[in-house]
Amino acid sequence: MSLASVSQLESKLLVSTYDRQPVLFERGRGVYLWDAKGKKYLDFLSGIGVNALGHNHPAIQRVIRRQAARLIHVSNLFFHEYQAELARQLTEMSGLDRAFFCNSGTEAWEGALKLARAFAQANNRNEKKPKWRILAMENSFHGRTFGALATTGQKKYRAPFAPLMPGVQFARFNDVGNLEKKFDSSICAVCIEPIQGEGGIQPVTREFLECARRLTKKNGALLLLDEIQCGLGRTGRHFAYQHYDVLPDIVTVAKPLAAGLPLGAILTTERVAAAMHPGLHGTTFGGGPLACALAIAFLREEQRLLKHIGAMGEYFHAALKKLDQKHGSIQDVRGAGLMQALELDSADRAKAVLKRLLEEGIIINRTHDTVLRFLPPYIIQKKHVDQLVVALDRALGEEIETPRNARSKKAKDGM
Ligand SMILES: Cc1ncc(COP(=O)(O)O)c(C=O)c1O
Repeated sequence: MSLASVSQLESKLLVSTYDRQPVLFERGRGVYLWDAKGKKYLDFLSGIGVNALGHNHPAIQRVIRRQAARLIHVSNLFFHEYQAELARQLTEMSGLDRAFFCNSGTEAWEGALKLARAFAQANNRNEKKPKWRILAMENSFHGRTFGALATTGQKKYRAPFAPLMPGVQFARFNDVGNLEKKFDSSICAVCIEPIQGEGGIQPVTREFLECARRLTKKNGALLLLDEIQCGLGRTGRHFAYQHYDVLPDIVTVAKPLAAGLPLGAILTTERVAAAMHPGLHGTTFGGGPLACALAIAFLREEQRLLKHIGAMGEYFHAALKKLDQKHGSIQDVRGAGLMQALELDSADRAKAVLKRLLEEGIIINRTHDTVLRFLPPYIIQKKHVDQLVVALDRALGEEIETPRNARSKKAKDGM
């Protein structure tokens, strides 16, 4: 099928939720993808952080072949051999005690909110002083289901679906004074992405995260960290919070966990997990044998790649900083490990650079209008960073076509 026929059919048949780039991908290997015309692309987005081992990784292929021939799905009413082992590895890596497996990021976050409410109900002995409110962050993103949306601090995602889950308030991200002002004893959970992803790659400050930990601990509230985008090796540590001296009560992960298959997880402490009992929460698909076997294989590779991610992240960040010195259109360079971003001076320029790179066969993404986001696979090498940086340098040096200058160009050309 051609791109034209697929896109025509989709425009008639799908609910319109995506503004897709005009590319029909057919296959991938390592850091590269190929489209239906055979054009090769360097992947600096990795399925928004999912394909962290690149495409068609041999270890992942082996597990898929082996496990597909043995057992793909079994209900959570029964045991299989991989959930406990995966939970063992994730709890050891995170410093937490227990895991719950689900199918996506938003579902992990939704479960984390439920867990926080259940914990508060089970532990709040003063009925006259209810403790069920949630303090989330402005500019955050936690997913598309109702609870996740209710805690997402960006109006554009929330407004069309109001009214959302009640009891959520927002504090200004990285503003300690505002956090202290908004926090009180009715709060059962404080929600933070250690690096806000959809919010434009904004890392939390040490002072802010430590303050959130201090306030929650002192008041019997929970600290919930969303590491769906920044966790599982992306920043050069297993978890982004491991760059700080803070241990959360609950952390959520998803994207790269099963190397391309849907799998999310909630990790928590013994004390918080005690608020759950059989029947209170669950899922049909979550934590199936194929996805869990793949996650075990992913974690083995992630462990091996951590140092490499750190080194490549430093190399990449330094190269972006050099571009910053050369191009006035760059407003900021942010990120950690292989989660990096360039903030540009306008949405039009960011759009133009993304388009230019796609024409050249490099996939990146734009978030928060003006931010170019880079989430390459953990297996990238210096030569791939160099290729991207040369292309960015060229694209940032070009005059951008905005609706206004396109009109004046037409007028000048006498059209
Ligand atoms: C920080 C964060 N939380 C939650 C989600 C939602 O994950 P999913 O799209 O798997 O539901 C995302 C997705 O981008 C995310 O970046």
